[in-house]
Amino acid sequence: MYEQVSHSMLNEILAELKAEVESHQLRHFYTRLGANFYAIHSLFRLLYGDRPDFKEQMVSLVETLAARYIEREPSLRKSDLAREKDYNWFLSQKWVGMALYCDRFADGLKGLRSRLPYLQDLGINMLHIMPILDCPPGNSDGGYAVRDFRRVNSRYGATEDIVELAATLRKRDILLVLDVVVNHTSNEHEWAQKARKGEKKYQDYYYVFDNRDIPDIYEETMPEIFPVNSPGNFTWDEEMGKWVMTVFNSYQWDLNYHNPAVLIEMIDIILFWANKGADILRLDAVAFLWKKIGSTCQNEREAHLLLQLLKDCCQVTAPGVLFIAEAIVAPGEIAKYFGEDAINAKECEIAYNATFMSLLWDAVATKNALLLNRGVRSLPDKLERATWLNYVRCHDDIGLGFSDDDARLSGYDPFRHRRFLVDYFTGKFPGSPARGLPFGDNPKTGDTRISGSLASLVGLETALERNDKEAIDAAIKTILLMHGMILSFGGIPLLYYGDAIGTLNSAAYLEDQTKRHDNRWVHRSHFDWVKAEKRHQPGTVEHRIFSALKRMIALRKETTAFADFDNRQLLAVDNPNLLVFFRSDQQNCRNKILVAANFNIEPQSLHVGALRSYGFFLQDGMKDLCSCTHIPVGNDAIVIPPLSFYWLAD
Ligand code: GLC
Ligand code: GLC
Repeated sequence: MYEQVSHSMLNEILAELKAEVESHQLRHFYTRLGANFYAIHSLFRLLYGDRPDFKEQMVSLVETLAARYIEREPSLRKSDLAREKDYNWFLSQKWVGMALYCDRFADGLKGLRSRLPYLQDLGINMLHIMPILDCPPGNSDGGYAVRDFRRVNSRYGATEDIVELAATLRKRDILLVLDVVVNHTSNEHEWAQKARKGEKKYQDYYYVFDNRDIPDIYEETMPEIFPVNSPGNFTWDEEMGKWVMTVFNSYQWDLNYHNPAVLIEMIDIILFWANKGADILRLDAVAFLWKKIGSTCQNEREAHLLLQLLKDCCQVTAPGVLFIAEAIVAPGEIAKYFGEDAINAKECEIAYNATFMSLLWDAVATKNALLLNRGVRSLPDKLERATWLNYVRCHDDIGLGFSDDDARLSGYDPFRHRRFLVDYFTGKFPGSPARGLPFGDNPKTGDTRISGSLASLVGLETALERNDKEAIDAAIKTILLMHGMILSFGGIPLLYYGDAIGTLNSAAYLEDQTKRHDNRWVHRSHFDWVKAEKRHQPGTVEHRIFSALKRMIALRKETTAFADFDNRQLLAVDNPNLLVFFRSDQQNCRNKILVAANFNIEPQSLHVGALRSYGFFLQDGMKDLCSCTHIPVGNDAIVIPPLSFYWLAD
């Protein structure tokens, strides 16, 4: 029944649009709209079908899609067509990403251009430029409190600079990733300003309440995201004389997607940046999109419907553009952001693998791979045409987001084990060399996250201060081990900008009044180009890390078994210090790589008996791709040195 309804509505809309858009080449737009309209209409109806203005809103949505398509540059339209044909293009092993701040890594967007050789030297070909949009100078949450979604922050450059940069990157086959902060705006955004002045239309863009009645009910079930810096989920706005929902910082107002106008605005913004040349859009805090009384207001079904709708709409206007879901939620929930079905209910093609990240940190602290093995085994299957973004560090804190059940099955009490991990990484645990800081300490729940740069968390800072050669070695090995995992696991590895040269924590943020309360800035320092130069000097820490990573990245790109086609198999091994999995090339099953990692500080044996049943012959050993050395089998075992990994081929 709905199919007829949607078809007849589509015909009406197209008839209305026709006169306006006849002169533009809309063949592909019409085809894609036809193909996606049933889904778009059904989802829109599920979310907004009860509203008297349902049809007007539907028309307004399609008009938006058409208007942005008409604007789409021929070169981008061409790339859309090519990517439609080669639809698995992003699953290739050739992509290696890095996230950076354009003002901290370079001197704004123009300056970034001159820094591209550094990225290319390392082998980076996917560039996530952290939020660049206009924000209030003080209360910006590192760019995630947007004041104007269509204007680049003047400190970084102008909108044209992004267009130019996108074209430069395209020529070099580097993908551009930009953020769209879909969940909230700054309290200085025009919509918020108008809401404050009393405009009902814009008050309906947010969750606004006259008194505490409803907020109090919400609070009964909503967790706090920044319990220290911004407790509670609502903020009193003096000018408006009302309460407004602010899940993150008090100056970040949550958008109300119960209102279709908000959704349409956001689709318009997404397509605006797609048209500026972004290849991939990182959708921020997607788990939070739908608020419902009596729930945690995270991972709600409607949040998924909204994302499906965003995807279907993007599919019509800019089908070559991918989405990254930033959903740092429980392991079982994250994979749901790929969608339920690769065709009918697709959401984001890429999702942060926060589970793998936290498991890697667990292995670093415990020096074994017990929980890591369990957690990897429990990772939910992902859809076809979906891939993980695997990372060790990013601009945010580390949340210990592995599953409690897996922790228990590994013999830990989840609560006490997380306490241990926080103590370990904040250096409180006896003998720990880590220099992290506790973040978001919540005495009500006992929950704490961790800030700190990769190098300082793995003990490099302590080791350098003590001039302890062995400890320096161990820290460098740990950095390489963790990267060895994200480069081979399956998915797109995303490096964090200072990590390839061993950037330590920086206390500079304490001098800045607007940042000192948020210790995530300890790992968001200005990139030190003098230090980076040392990557050319053999023997330096910088050279040791950079040159090894560079080699691993180059190898990854050559190794077709590392492409992400559901081709990883975890091996059950009896040594709890090891993580062992193999990757095989779908096209040529003889191309197999065995990844074997030792998280312990002693050498560990991997018995090879079991490996033979997986088709590895191991008569006289195997070859490690990274070191290019022959790894012998002795006593039916391979020995893996402390804090090391092999990428083994027959
Ligand atoms: C995302 C960002 C984080 C920010 C939050 C609120 O999680 O990664 O940095 O604080 O959204 O916008
Ligand atoms: C994110 C996550 C949370 C993260 C925070 C930024 O959206 O939900 O785990 O730490 O925002 O710090």
